[in-house]
Amino acid sequence: MTTSNDLKTVISQEYAGRISGASSCCDTDESCNASYPVEVLDSMPEGVVSFGCGTPTTIGSLKPGEWVLDLGSGAGLDCFLAAREVGPQGRVIGVDFTPAMLERANENREKLGLNNVEFRMGDIESLPVEANSIDVILSNCVINLAPDKDAVFREAFRVLRSGGRLMVSDIVLTRPATGEEIRDMALLTGCISGSLPAEEYVGKVESAGFVDARWAGDPPTDDTRFWFSASITATKP
Ligand SMILES: C[S@@+](CC[C@H](N)C(=O)[O-])C[C@H]1O[C@@H](n2cnc3c(N)ncnc32)[C@H](O)[C@@H]1O
Repeated sequence: MTTSNDLKTVISQEYAGRISGASSCCDTDESCNASYPVEVLDSMPEGVVSFGCGTPTTIGSLKPGEWVLDLGSGAGLDCFLAAREVGPQGRVIGVDFTPAMLERANENREKLGLNNVEFRMGDIESLPVEANSIDVILSNCVINLAPDKDAVFREAFRVLRSGGRLMVSDIVLTRPATGEEIRDMALLTGCISGSLPAEEYVGKVESAGFVDARWAGDPPTDDTRFWFSASITATKP
């Protein structure tokens, strides 16, 4: 039987391999659909690659001075974009559990000379972040990979301040993944079969205590695939 810790080890090894080899998941993954404008990507140094499936910083506006937390920050792209928006009075914390990702993110931060961004080693199911300290949580194509999504949303709720926003891009499903699809490690680490139908995903967000939880996206109109990229937003009351 594959335990949750075994799964996390496989996922972390997979992403360590990707950051040391590939330029971006968009080269290989069907789920990857991070449509950053070319000028945004051009403004970043080499090494700032995206493994995302959306652009969470564009879902809702970030304000100067806000504190932002990125769940599964990868090479840091969304953290760097958020840092521009919150400015020197704000702060951005990226959390990731893959050492090679954190190393790359820190190299990128140094190249950009940003001192309002920090990367922390940690599991998004048990965040190394103080309670009630964050204004906005971002996450791009990560929560689908977490075996215990209830824990992720409980932790997100804990660390947000009252009125804080959740702004997530993730893969969601049009139907539950089958047992066979879930056991397929390429589909799972490729950000597909670990996810949930959109309504179930949002239901878990609500169960953690969030209000105004909703998803937006374009589900496929045929049955050639059972996943799509969505934006999920909610507020801590
Ligand atoms: C598909 S990549 C997305 C990276 C980044 N958000 C982006 O858009 O480029 C998934 C990232 O989440 C991290 N990750 C997956 N599960 C995690 C967990 N339970 N806790 C912390 N990081 C996790 C991986 O190490 C990897 O960096």
